[in-house]
Amino acid sequence: MNSKIKKILKKKNKSKIICLTAYSKNIAEEVDKYTDITLVGDSLGSVLYNYKTTRKVTLINMIDHSKSVRLGVKKSLMVVDMPYKTYSSNSSALKNAKKIIKETKCDAVKLEGGKKIAKIIKHLVNKGIPVLGHVGLLPQSSTKFKLKGKNFLQGKRILEDAIAVSNSGAFAMVIECVVESLAKKITKSVSIPTIGIGASKYCDGQVLVIDDMLGLGDFFPKFVKKYSNLRKIIDTCVKNYVKDVKTRRFPSFRNVYK
Ligand code: KIV
Repeated sequence: MNSKIKKILKKKNKSKIICLTAYSKNIAEEVDKYTDITLVGDSLGSVLYNYKTTRKVTLINMIDHSKSVRLGVKKSLMVVDMPYKTYSSNSSALKNAKKIIKETKCDAVKLEGGKKIAKIIKHLVNKGIPVLGHVGLLPQSSTKFKLKGKNFLQGKRILEDAIAVSNSGAFAMVIECVVESLAKKITKSVSIPTIGIGASKYCDGQVLVIDDMLGLGDFFPKFVKKYSNLRKIIDTCVKNYVKDVKTRRFPSFRNVYK
C-alpha cells in the first residue's frame, strides 16, 4: 500500500486529516505544504467554468488541470475526481481511472456514490487503484444543493452507502453536507477515515474548496469558513496598478532595462 495512504489511515481517531482542493500549480504548491490530501475536485466545473452542475466536467478538463496540479504537489496524496459518467461500468471505470493515473501521475481517484457503485470501487481496488469514496450530497447525481440526512430513512440510506463504500475497499471517504448526528454515526461505524465538507467536526478530517476558503468564490454555503477575502485584495492590487500606469509611476527606473 502507498505509504501516504498508510499514514492517512493511521490518523483515524488520532489526529485530523487535512484536505483542500487545487486546480492549478501555484495554488497546489501552497496547499501541498500543509495537506495530507490535495484533491483535484470536479468542483472546478462550477468554480472555474461557471457550469451549473459538475456533470459537464469532462475527462479532458480533469486531466489538464491535474497535470498542472501535479507540478505543484510534492508531498501530499494527490487525488483526482472521476467525472460524471466515466465510471458507469467496471470496464469504463478501469479504463478511465488508468488513463487519469497514467496521464496525471496522481495517487488515487475519487468516485461519488454508495451501494450503487460499491462493486465498481471494489473492481478498481482489486486492480490496484486506490479509491477515495464520496457519500452524502452527491453533486454529480443531485441537481439541487441540499442538506442530507435530515429524515430517518435518508440517514439510514446514507449510512448504508458509507458502509458499502468502506467494505468495497476505498481507503477513505468524503462525507458531504449531512447533519452532524449522521456524520458522527458514519465515522463511528466505518473502519476507514471520513473527511467532511459540511459534515461537522466529528469526521476524521476536513476538506474545503480552496477558492471558497480564500474568499474567491461567489457562492458561500454555511459550512464554508472564509480565511481571506482574496477578491478584495486582488481588486486593490489591480486598482493600484491602473493608478500607477496612468500617473506614470509604473514602470519606474527599477523596472526598466538600460
Ligand atoms: O469536487 C470537489 O471539490 C469535491 C469536494 C467538495 C470534496 O468533491
